[in-house]
Amino acid sequence: MFNETRWWRSATIYQVYPRSFADGNGDGVGDLAGIRAHLPYLRDLGVDAIWFSPWYPSPMADAGYDVADYRDIDPAFGTLTEAATLIEEAHTLDLRIIIDVVPNHCSDAHPWFREALAAGSGSAARDLFWFRDGRGEDGELPPNNWMSIFGGPAWTRVADGQWYLHLFAPEQPDFNWANPKVREEFEDILRFWFDRGVDGVRIDSAALCMKDPALLDFDPDAPTAPATLAEPGSAAQPHPYSDRDETHEIYRDWRRVADSYDPPRVLIGEIWLPDTERFIQYLRPDELHTAFNFDFLAAPWDATSFHTTIDATLAAHAPVSAPATWVLSNHDVFRHVTRYGRADTSFSHDHEHRRRQTGAPTDFALGTRRARAAVLLGLALPGSAYVYQGEELGLGEVEDIPDEQRQDPLFARTNGANPGRDGCRVPLPWSGDASPFGFSPPGAGAPPWLPQPLSWRTLTAEVQKGDPGSMLELYREALRVRHSEPALGDGTMRWLDAPAEVLAFYRGPSFACVLNMSSADVPLPTHDSVLLASGPLVDGLLPPDSAVWLRIP
Ligand code: GLC
Repeated sequence: MFNETRWWRSATIYQVYPRSFADGNGDGVGDLAGIRAHLPYLRDLGVDAIWFSPWYPSPMADAGYDVADYRDIDPAFGTLTEAATLIEEAHTLDLRIIIDVVPNHCSDAHPWFREALAAGSGSAARDLFWFRDGRGEDGELPPNNWMSIFGGPAWTRVADGQWYLHLFAPEQPDFNWANPKVREEFEDILRFWFDRGVDGVRIDSAALCMKDPALLDFDPDAPTAPATLAEPGSAAQPHPYSDRDETHEIYRDWRRVADSYDPPRVLIGEIWLPDTERFIQYLRPDELHTAFNFDFLAAPWDATSFHTTIDATLAAHAPVSAPATWVLSNHDVFRHVTRYGRADTSFSHDHEHRRRQTGAPTDFALGTRRARAAVLLGLALPGSAYVYQGEELGLGEVEDIPDEQRQDPLFARTNGANPGRDGCRVPLPWSGDASPFGFSPPGAGAPPWLPQPLSWRTLTAEVQKGDPGSMLELYREALRVRHSEPALGDGTMRWLDAPAEVLAFYRGPSFACVLNMSSADVPLPTHDSVLLASGPLVDGLLPPDSAVWLRIP
């Protein structure tokens, strides 16, 4: 099933969040030694590739998404030599490696930014970023009204009175991508890692890099349309920093770099855009290979929403011949076991939505049942799929982290109005019945960097391994079937007739997936055998919130 050079069309990619995967040296923070020790676990799980959230030197103002040096490893994680060993070991186990590249911004500790601060107004060093004089009599007001995605103004003033732009935290200054030196630098960074055997990159905040140099005030509620699509005379303006047409040039250049390798390296975009037509432009054959399908992730648990999202996804991808991706969780969103157990099962980044959702009553058993069904759906749909570390253990969002231990800048920058993303980043439980649950070695010098709930003692990898009813064994079995089943991965699907609130589809020559989102037990289509079920069938009927894989005649 997995064609060598087009492996990414069908791959299941496991996201490792290095700080929270496994701690080899006992300092309470995950590291490369911990990851290396668990590579066999990932091989046995049956994934095809590992994507690492940033592992570069970083002051960790945004958990590593503030990069101080794109060509090294943070000392808390290990060394460059160790990363090379890790890549080699993973390859020996048939696991490909994808790393995170963060092009929109760096860390305020990056040497370029330090140089820019020292060089002063109007310097070439400042032109690598967005430095501007302020407004008001003494320049005491920010250059425009843009707000940071993490809350607060998107501008910070420096000692000499100028301001610099940061779409995220102040410790994350935005690069000026109109400057050719920035472009050259990133192509060189890509080569640096591709030369070291990395198989692909996940591109952070990929649609935000280009800014309108006019830097005009922006009304976030005003209609925006890309310059090429705006109707003449329409009120819609091009967005000043999201999805600007010029962004595509960057990825065309990157594609040339990726394609100059044998085998070609893979580009994966993190692109949150409400407009599917615009989203898909990034996946034209000379741009990115794939992008995360956040519409699927955000969809509420109901058959109409799922059906609509799946249809829209597949229809949008078809003309550019890019494979769809299926994602349920990542390091930025509520863990889906928790989300699916709530009255509101949708996801949104909106600060107010996040605030309302946090701590809302959750039926954990229901969420778990749905999560089991959802993974069978995602792994059966055409394309590639993602697993965020810990979802294979059925971990829920940790919602009772004491405020003083929260580290996500979203929490501080919204004065606690948005609780932030720490709850999906808690270190994994591997074994034992008390924290650190095998995350750190025995006798570790420090507790895990975020507190682990005691309830996780029933969800450790150790407890679940070999238990046929566990989430871990469901994932392992599903990935085993996915590998051996020629119908799965890249390809096409066809909907089958099904009762109301039930999704059923066929993948040739003889595979079907059925997901029951109704509140009644439903009969299954004619089949030869059940390949896998997310939960027990009742008298041959599929209960609510369950899914099944069938061999059909
Ligand atoms: C992306 C990352 C997120 C990070 C942000 C800024 O959305 O996934 O974790 O905070 O970019 O780099």
